Amino acid sequence: MTRVFVTRSLPEAWLAPLAEAGLEVEVRAASSPASRSELLDRAAGAAALIAFIGDRIDAELLNAAGPGLRIVANFAVGYDNVDVEACRRQGVLVANTPGVLTEATADLAFALLLAVARRLRQGHELVASGRWSGWEPTQLLGAALDGSTLGIVGLGRIGQAVARRGVAFGMRIVYTGRSRVAEAESELAALQLPLSELLAASDFVSLHCPLTRETAGLIDAAALALMKPTAVLVNTARGGVVDDAALAAALRAQRLWGAGLDVFDGEPRVNPELLDLPNVVLAPHAGSATVAARSAMARLCVDAVLAVLEGRRPANLVA
Ligand code: GLV
Repeated sequence: MTRVFVTRSLPEAWLAPLAEAGLEVEVRAASSPASRSELLDRAAGAAALIAFIGDRIDAELLNAAGPGLRIVANFAVGYDNVDVEACRRQGVLVANTPGVLTEATADLAFALLLAVARRLRQGHELVASGRWSGWEPTQLLGAALDGSTLGIVGLGRIGQAVARRGVAFGMRIVYTGRSRVAEAESELAALQLPLSELLAASDFVSLHCPLTRETAGLIDAAALALMKPTAVLVNTARGGVVDDAALAAALRAQRLWGAGLDVFDGEPRVNPELLDLPNVVLAPHAGSATVAARSAMARLCVDAVLAVLEGRRPANLVA
């Protein structure tokens, strides 16, 4: 029987079409990541994998899976955990989940941006502590969005969705990326800038690039030094794009005003330096965490697996 290995548990209904198509579906009974050895053992003999953030899909894994493996459907839009070249060499197709999580992720980026701008965490802590003694004229003053500049690093689907939100809040949009995005320039009056100019010009910088060799450590100490001391950094892309130690140092020295972070280099480990800073809001890699987005991501993975095993080409192949 053709076996599909799903490396973390998902609601049964989301995976039902696989069993209905007569496939043997093996779902790991845990929502935390598998150990490397468990992943290697249980991938053996699978025709398809539904893999998740944190599952390293490389030549070793492909060898362990064996020659029957035809597709890796990665339950994420980002696929930096997959060695796409190794998959290509072995004739294994790779699919991801674009589009369906765009608005959810843009919402979270904006939630972080607003939370930091308006110091919501500090306000919450003040009220919840019982120490709040009442309204004060200069209490917890935040940063205005209206009239500010929002710098988008990577104006793909999610970057554009964040830019649209920015325009609705009265922000001017600048962006950086490998190519010009003509629709965004006309629709959002977005201006393309080199990264260094974007960092210097922006009041808010939101990261939406994939993690690649070119973007690893892109926001390092030198990049942070270009930002305004009143600026806010938001990262809902990948932790590896930012040097977290340099970010913590910049925040501590008040060379940067605040940060909203949903992703961390080496997560779930978080650089301890980031944990006790006052104007930082942290989220547990939750960009796509809505029922609508996550169920649609499952649907895309299931559809891609079914298509490949039935000899069709899914739309969402990355390799
Ligand atoms: C989440 O991080 C994703 O890439 O979908």
